[in-house]
Amino acid sequence: MNRFDKKVELRLPDSLKWSGVDRLFKGEDLLPLWVADMDFEAPAPVLEAIRRRVDAGLLTYTELPSSLFEAVAGWLDRRFHWKVDTSDLLFAPGVVTLLKAAVRAFTQPGDRVIVQPPVYGPFGEAVTGQGRELALNPLKVEQGKYTMDFEDLEAKLRLTGAKLLLLCSPHNPTGRVWEKAELNRLAALCSAYGVTVASDEIHSDLILTGVHTPIASLPGMAERTVTFIAPSKTFNLAGLHTSFAVATDETLRKGLDQALGHRGAEPVVDRGGGGGLPGRRRMAGGLPDVFARQCVFRGRLFGRAAAGGDRLRARSDLPAVGRPAPVRFKPNRARRPSGQGSARRRERRRRLRERGRRTRPH
Ligand SMILES: Cc1ncc(COP(=O)(O)O)c(C=O)c1O
Repeated sequence: MNRFDKKVELRLPDSLKWSGVDRLFKGEDLLPLWVADMDFEAPAPVLEAIRRRVDAGLLTYTELPSSLFEAVAGWLDRRFHWKVDTSDLLFAPGVVTLLKAAVRAFTQPGDRVIVQPPVYGPFGEAVTGQGRELALNPLKVEQGKYTMDFEDLEAKLRLTGAKLLLLCSPHNPTGRVWEKAELNRLAALCSAYGVTVASDEIHSDLILTGVHTPIASLPGMAERTVTFIAPSKTFNLAGLHTSFAVATDETLRKGLDQALGHRGAEPVVDRGGGGGLPGRRRMAGGLPDVFARQCVFRGRLFGRAAAGGDRLRARSDLPAVGRPAPVRFKPNRARRPSGQGSARRRERRRRLRERGRRTRPH
């Protein structure tokens, strides 16, 4: 049976979509069209991978494998002929998280941000909820279809000095798949006014007619755009909290990465050389640096083994790793000039002897 024909239990007790419709809209027999979750089972390979992981009994910190980034880059190339480097990708737990991070990264409190209503609610919240102000550029309806109002946009850019535009492409809720000509016009205005574009392209795989064009793939736009994508709508996986940003420009990527902060996906020990010595020292419980380095070294080997295979292997299974040479802890005392100190020590021992106390521990 085709999985789209399979009947699934819809009203799971913790389903936001189904329980939320009763709570928020309080009607009888309402269809919950307010959340873009589909009533189909998730794809079999995804369910199998999760089952394997659960059966292994380990839900610990996980390293993001390079194959994940390659899969994302490959998808963008095959679907949209958009070539991105895996190093341009940032992992994030959600597109709304990314929208909020973009507002923090590319604007200051009090700045104006362009948003094009009617649009998915969290766009506005990402702006006003973080102390920035909305500069609205409402869509207009022309011959029964929503279009962008470019005259109004130019006026808003000129008058508000906005330096960030949150684009929804394809657009939710109007369903518009922006045409290349429309995106080119938007791009020209953003370039002319030095505006960064944060483009939410979460719905780009679900298109009935037309062709999705990533705005970052247009000439001159890669250096001023961050694009947000996810498998959550396409494959009905919203609860897995997996999304990505594509940020080709290094400054934008670093800014976004910093605003995202720690995402909890890296293993504790393997900081890939970027962890910094203070962190390593803390991890090694305050022991001297040479011991800390040994821990980091072993951690890296484990991390690599885990990324390359299915399970974390015991140290003895690793072909190239023998028993690490024991490290002797030698306190690094500052040396006193010879002669000094020893006289003082002798005098101290003499006084302790007189008091009948031992000078050395057993
Ligand atoms: C346009 C748009 N962006 C983002 C999201 C939510 O993304 P996430 O769950 O990854 O935060 C939705 C959900 O429906 C959406 O329609």
